[in-house]
Formats: sequence, structure tokens, C-alpha cells
Amino acid sequence: MSKPALMNSTYITTPIFYVNDLPHIGHAYTSIICDTITRFKKLEGHDVLFTTGTDEHGLKVEKAAKEKGKTPNDFVDEVSKNFRKLTSTLEIQNTDFIRTTEERHKISASFFWNKLVEKNQIYKGNYKGWYSVKDESFYQEKELIKEGEIFKTQDGSVVDWIEEDSFFFKLSLWEKELLKFYELNPDFIKPLSRMNEVKSFVKSGLKDLSVSRTSFNWGIKVPNSDHIMYVWIDALTNYLTSIGYPKINSKKIKFWENCIHIIGKDILKFHAVYWPAMLMAINHPLPKSIFAHGWWTNEGKKISKSLGNTVDPNEMINKFGLDQFRYFLLREVPLGNDGDFSEKSLIIRINSDLSNNLGNLIQRVTKFLKKNFNNKIPYSLIDEYETNKQLKQGYFLINNIKIKMNNFEISKCLEDVFLYIDELNKFVDECEPWKSFKLDPEKAGKDLSILIECFRIIGIILQPFIPNASRKILDTLNIKESSRRFDNLTREHALKKSYELNNPQPLFPRYEK
Ligand code: MSP
Repeated sequence: MSKPALMNSTYITTPIFYVNDLPHIGHAYTSIICDTITRFKKLEGHDVLFTTGTDEHGLKVEKAAKEKGKTPNDFVDEVSKNFRKLTSTLEIQNTDFIRTTEERHKISASFFWNKLVEKNQIYKGNYKGWYSVKDESFYQEKELIKEGEIFKTQDGSVVDWIEEDSFFFKLSLWEKELLKFYELNPDFIKPLSRMNEVKSFVKSGLKDLSVSRTSFNWGIKVPNSDHIMYVWIDALTNYLTSIGYPKINSKKIKFWENCIHIIGKDILKFHAVYWPAMLMAINHPLPKSIFAHGWWTNEGKKISKSLGNTVDPNEMINKFGLDQFRYFLLREVPLGNDGDFSEKSLIIRINSDLSNNLGNLIQRVTKFLKKNFNNKIPYSLIDEYETNKQLKQGYFLINNIKIKMNNFEISKCLEDVFLYIDELNKFVDECEPWKSFKLDPEKAGKDLSILIECFRIIGIILQPFIPNASRKILDTLNIKESSRRFDNLTREHALKKSYELNNPQPLFPRYEK
């Protein structure tokens, strides 16, 4: 049965990054997760749009430009490049890179604003309250901690008291609708703990949201007014701009309805409360889901510019390699949990999982096959699929990974693949083809052929996670580009007798601790 067309469109988004900062591990993490999901969906046969970009307006950016003695325009042009460069360093497969200072975005955000006005969702008032420039967020006093004369957010950022004319979005009208929506769509916010957090936030009461500012200029102008748009309204609409809003055709709507926003836990309220409420308010379909990942610390300490302890992804990749860095971030903690970064734990992962476990296994088997079988598969594997333990496990693994990936269990997927690799290592140790080869070359040939077929399974499955190493494995196995999708992981595609491999390639060097 063919799949409905709707299932085949997927739209993945990273948050757009503030340009007041240099790219760090947090930005790299979000991007790598999105890239992994993108690659996975593509291998499943989906058509994927994947957008990332930079959030360039707001007081925070205006202040950062001033500190550097630059105009906001010059400043954002310069800093946005660092983030664009990060996408190429990370080799992520984004289909768009959006900047909120682009004309297409101004058109889209203004259109969105006008829709809110048209639907009677905006009114003029005066905002008196607390504001954190660091989070670009308004706070109620009950959410803050008082330290002497200063008020701080739970994360320790100082808030300022502001009083200014402002437009308001009638967020309070959407409380019930939001709660109803969460009930009807229990998978809308993941992990579940975040869904519960959001529900209790909404249940505790929503106030109308101030959505424009008048005390500074760096932003998109509110149509027919001297206000500028609150940076979060501007920023959230990027997800629509990127697919052509306001001109969204039926094809693009399918992408939108299958849109997954991957975000950090700190920006959940904006994505899971404000954004759906505004979309409901203009009667626009909602994205499919939001996944909030955890935060990385550096050797137990919160990463911050002032502590000077940010982890530079460029440095890590230069030192250890891209796949190694990706693997660590994806494997070390379950998606949704916080993680602690240290070079020591990165090296442990590289040495034990990638170098010893995966790399050695592939090297020793392919080298032996080259030396003794002239790189040719000595045995046909089609008939082995139903009976051979290793192949059956491989088959099981594929289905298991598909289920887990669609549930965002990335780390668990890698754990399962590497447990399978453990099993294959045990199999090699038991059958010792290098010994049995002399006494029983046929048996050795069969065992080696089974292993190579298992490598085909591993090589294909690992593509979304460690794309470069997988490419090397599949190149060594001489698997054509067009035969690397998941639907090739079947018995019919199993390698046949006399199939010729390419020469082995080195995979992962070991590092000294
Ligand atoms: N500009 C807003 C997002 C607007 S989206 C419509 C923003 N930008 S940010 O640059 O501050 O953060 C971008 C992402 O990086 C967020 O998802 C945030 O959670 C993530 N991280 C920033 N530091 C992080 C860690 N230390 N660890 C993991 N991710 C963290 O917020």
C-alpha cells in the first residue's frame, strides 16, 4: 500500500540564533539534532525542508552592536556569517538559512501582524513591568527572585522595570483553547515532562502579552505605527517566512502540518504557548510538534560568556573530527536531558565506541577479506536472512531504530546499534575466521560474508548519526549512492557471491587521555 502524500513531507526547524554571541556548543547541538532527524527522514523516503538562521533584532542585539562601536546593520551582517559558517562546518543539510533582517521576513512578519489586527487580537495599552534583556522576555513578579534591590529570573538574569506604550496580544483569550489542544494532541510537546510543565503554566493563568516596544528602534516596524515589533513575534514568524508565507501553497502547507520545532528547554514558553496561541488567533494550522532538548554544561559549570567557558564547536571539530563530536552529543545523554561536556568524556566515547568497537571490527574483517579473498564476497547471503542470528538481529534493529527515532530517542538508537556491534565483535571472536580459514576456508568465507552484510546494515543505519564514517563504510563495501536508503535493508538487496568490495579505509584514530 502506498503511503499518503502527507506523510512524505517533513519540515524541521532550529531556533534562529541571536547574533549577540559567537556560535557555541548549544547552537551546534540544536543544529546537529535537526540534521540527524533530517537525514533520517530522507533515508525513510521523506521530502524534507530544514531551516535555520539568525535572530537579528531586539534590544540585546542593539546593545551588543553598540558595545562593539558598530551600527546594528553592520554588526548583524558580520556576526550572522559566523552562524552560516557553522552550518557548513557542521555539514548540516539545511535547505534554508533565514535572517530576520531580510526583506522577505519583514513582509511575512508584517503580514502576520496585520492578520492579528484583522482578527481583533491586538489592542493598544501601556506596559508596566519587568523585562529581561538577556531572555528578551517579560516576567511577572511572582516568577522572580529578589536579591536586595535587584530582581532576577530563576536563571539568574537581571530584569529591568519598564513602562512604555505598547500593543498587546489577547493571549488570555486562548487559555482554554490551548489546554483543549494539548489534551487532544498529547504528542504536541515532548518530552512528556515538558508538556506537563506547559500545561501547568497555562493553567496558572495567562496575561495578555506586550508585543511591541517604543524605547528603542532595532526591529521590524509595526504597520501604521511608530512602535517596533516585540522580537519574539518577529522571531517566531521566521518559521513561516522560510516556507514562503504569506504565499503558502498546498504543498507548503503539508510541510507546515508536519513541522517539528526543535528547541532548547529555555525557550519552551514562546514556542508551546505564545506561538500556538497566535496561530490559533489568525486561524492558521499549527505545527506538528515541539521537542525541547536539555542544556549542556562544561565540566559541571553553566556555560556563560562572562565565565569565559563556552565550548567552541569549531575547536572541537578541528581537534577530534566532526563525526566524533556529533556522536558524543547525540549519544551521551537522552534527548531532553541535560548533559555535561568534557574533553575527557568525549575521548572515552571516541576510543571505546567509535575506535575500538566499530572501527576495529570493520578494519580487521575488511582487511582480512582483502588479503585472502581478493576483496570478493565468498558466499551469497540471500538465504541466510531467515536463519542466521546476526542477520536476524540486524533486521530487528532496523525496525527498532525506526520506532525509536520517530519517538526522538536518538541516544537509545545509538546505544542499540552499538550493542549490536558488540554482538558482532563477539561473533568474530568466537568464529575467528583468521584461524578457521586454514582448516575450513568455506566456513570462514561464510562467516566473513555474514559480517560484511551486517556492516551494510550498520553503515546504512548509522548515516544520520555519523554521516562521514558511514560513507567510508559504505564506500568500502562498494554500495552505490542510490542503494543507501532504508528500503534497501532487505533480503533482496543482500550482497551476493563474488560481489566485489573496495579497499578498506581507516575510520577512527584513538586519542590519548
Ligand atoms: N533567538 C532565540 C530563538 C528564537 S526561535 C524563534 C534564542 N536564541 S539563542 O541563540 O539564545 O539560543 C538558541 C538555542 O541554543 C536555544 O534552543 C537554546 O536552548 C540553545 N542553547 C543555548 N545554550 C545552550 C546550552 N548550553 N546547551 C544546549 N543548548 C543551549 O533563544
